[in-house]
Amino acid sequence: MDLKKVFENNKSWIEDKLSTDKNYFEELGKGQTPELLYIGCSDSRATAEELMGAKPGEVFVHRNIANMVISIDLNVMSVVNYAVDHLKVKHVIVCGHYGCGGVKAAMQSADLGILNPWLRNIRDVYRIHSDELNKITDEDKKYDKLVELNVKEQCVNLIKTAAVQKAFRDRGLKVHGWVFDVHSGKLIDLKIDFEHYLEDIMQIYHLD
Ligand code: CO
Repeated sequence: MDLKKVFENNKSWIEDKLSTDKNYFEELGKGQTPELLYIGCSDSRATAEELMGAKPGEVFVHRNIANMVISIDLNVMSVVNYAVDHLKVKHVIVCGHYGCGGVKAAMQSADLGILNPWLRNIRDVYRIHSDELNKITDEDKKYDKLVELNVKEQCVNLIKTAAVQKAFRDRGLKVHGWVFDVHSGKLIDLKIDFEHYLEDIMQIYHLD
């Protein structure tokens, strides 16, 4: 991508916004009140706002390799804390995607250096669900299933946080698990039974 083109695109984007609303940037500059927190993969194809048709100001976004929610990752934990406690988002979404390179790498045996500890968390998801996964003989289907199970486990990790537990109790915050299908463009709701998980998880991870 030509970087000169990026700045040209930006210029026409500004013109486009101002042509329909001359106060657009004045309003945008006043602050944000997003209702969604989207935690997705850094994959260049799994864009957050574009695939949801969301406008600036509507979604607080965090992306990392394979949409992970890791309790000792200060980055994702700060995002969750800020979005839930301060911005008071109504929904937290973990969105994985089929064809995820991070999930694929975790299914293979290879030393990937600094990526090892990160991908280890996906290998843990595999281990937890190995009975179910090992029954799948088709490698592509197994790969898709691990993408889905990883999303579910990251939702579980969100429920383990004090911020999410408190916000659920105080104002009914919801956690959702979605998968983006890069082959069709479709966004799939895994329909995670959040309250069932919550009840289950709280027996051990109750913080608040
Ligand atoms: Co990915």
